[in-house]
Amino acid sequence: MCGIVGFIGRHDAAPILLDGLSKLEYRGYDSSGIAVRDENGNFEVVKAKGKLKELFEKTDSGKAIHGTTGIGHTRWATHGEPSETNAHPHISGTDVDDSGVVGVHNGIIENYVEMKDKLLRKGYKFYSETDTEVMVKLVDYYYKKYKCPPGEAIAKAMVRVRGSYALVLMFKDHPDEIWAARKDSPMIIGICDGETYVASDVPAILKYTKHVYYIGNMEIACLKEGTAEFYNIDSEPLEKELVEITWDAEAAEKGGYEHFMMKEIHEQPRAITDTLNSIIKGEGKDRRIDFSCVGISDEDIKKISQIYIAACGSAWHVGMAAQYVIEDLARIPVRVELASEFRYRNPILDKNGLVIVISQSGETADSLAALREAKDKGLKTLAIVNVVGSSIAREADYVVYTVSGPEIAVATTKAYSTQLIVTYLIAIHFAAVRGHLDADKYAYYISELYTLPEKIEKIFETKDKLQWFAAKFVNVHDVFFIGRSIDYAVSLEGSLKMKEISYVHSEAYAAGELKHGTISMIEDGTLVIGVLTQPSLYEKTMSNMVECKARGAYLAAVTSYGHYNIEDTSNFVTYIPNVDAHFMGSLSVIPLQLLGYYLSLSRGLDVDKPRNLAKSVTVE
Ligand code: AGP
Repeated sequence: MCGIVGFIGRHDAAPILLDGLSKLEYRGYDSSGIAVRDENGNFEVVKAKGKLKELFEKTDSGKAIHGTTGIGHTRWATHGEPSETNAHPHISGTDVDDSGVVGVHNGIIENYVEMKDKLLRKGYKFYSETDTEVMVKLVDYYYKKYKCPPGEAIAKAMVRVRGSYALVLMFKDHPDEIWAARKDSPMIIGICDGETYVASDVPAILKYTKHVYYIGNMEIACLKEGTAEFYNIDSEPLEKELVEITWDAEAAEKGGYEHFMMKEIHEQPRAITDTLNSIIKGEGKDRRIDFSCVGISDEDIKKISQIYIAACGSAWHVGMAAQYVIEDLARIPVRVELASEFRYRNPILDKNGLVIVISQSGETADSLAALREAKDKGLKTLAIVNVVGSSIAREADYVVYTVSGPEIAVATTKAYSTQLIVTYLIAIHFAAVRGHLDADKYAYYISELYTLPEKIEKIFETKDKLQWFAAKFVNVHDVFFIGRSIDYAVSLEGSLKMKEISYVHSEAYAAGELKHGTISMIEDGTLVIGVLTQPSLYEKTMSNMVECKARGAYLAAVTSYGHYNIEDTSNFVTYIPNVDAHFMGSLSVIPLQLLGYYLSLSRGLDVDKPRNLAKSVTVE
């Protein structure tokens, strides 16, 4: 979605704003802009449609604009087409010189039409189609009407609007301040060496500081040089603790890889090891899963009658795989829900159920709403989240963090893999606590998990073959992924990877379901990719592949070492190492990630920033 950066300090703001915005490009955007206050107290606003490089060019990389206080924005259009006019920052007047307030905003103001009508009646004139312009003008209206401090005017506007937002504003009358407020949209404030930063996401300011404040929901902040003050909606001051971020700036750079996605694919062995080590304590046979810092007690675990997993996109696919593993090991019924459906269908939930919300960003609007729905219904919630301090992490009863580091590519890879790992650990731990696992089996599963990083490295050795395969199918139109149980869950992820970055239509099917309709689409040359890693289901999926071949399909397969007879049927095979069947999804997904990557590359597409998509989906 959109990205926000703000700066107040002793250096020129514009180059810092542009640098920060470039770190947020992965969030998706279609236009950008900055506003800087010059030494005479006037605002200079520069905006550009398209890539950020247009804004770099218009401002000579920020060098053409002087002033030490400024705000910047990358926009992902929601209200009004991508254009220079609709780009942020927006102003309270019709001209920058007659504007007392200038602001940027992430999220959506749902009742902006109603607010706009009110402001039109008060004589305000609008130049854009955006909800942001309405919000900026609404703050200006209250500021002028009540002649109050900026924070109070912002609070009055917050009370009147519905929706989600991160809002950053400058007031002409308050030259040494930037004001920020948020509701359901992420924002952090960083402090370093007498200078202050605000951003919608950590990578934007990581180069400058690792010391940040998290602004809570419905809170307002006033940034000054090197300090920040916080207020609640009643303008009462709040105490906040400065938190240190453990990510380093290098982790958010490409590190020699052509794309973030490839870098992140290669970081998976390390991310899996770090995630395992963050939860498993002890050595050798004494290794134990330790959820003590999560706070969920054995008594709590024994009482769980049902698990509901709510998530979106790839995180939902993790839930689909987890369903098989948790039910099989811990013998607890699991229902997997799309968060966007869960939140609106008034679900019937068992009071002793546990709702698990999975999210890389911790800010996905639908997942956050699903979490709140579950809490409103009185259920305990457990979040599996990558971004520390994100909204979902803060609002859940229990949090387990994945240790992936920043994930920049829009297509998730390492976050997906570490989320899977956390669900395996939940399955093993819950199984042990509920008496379904003996000590030997427990130790066996943990030692199997520790073999994953090395086995993933082994799969990387097949990259050339996958690149060749992607080049062969560069013009493919339709692809079908099929598999059963965990292989089906991984097929869903393989299909999404292909769609989102290669723009190739693909579908994932439970292999046994194909013959109930979709097989009519198979014709000469249709590419069918089978995932066959579950020993008990290998023959079954194989039969379904043969049914496709009989109708002319070109068969490709992902299977494990030893199943060499597959070459009698399949036109292309990529082999992966063996691991306990519950965890095979962690290996079979790797060739599918690589396939999506190479197909996108062969088609000359923007791998890291696919069209129409954003990394963190903070709107419904
Ligand atoms: C996957 O590659 C996508 N980027 C997307 O499906 C993503 O998994 C989904 O939007 C959920 O995001 P979250 O994990 O940040 O909640």
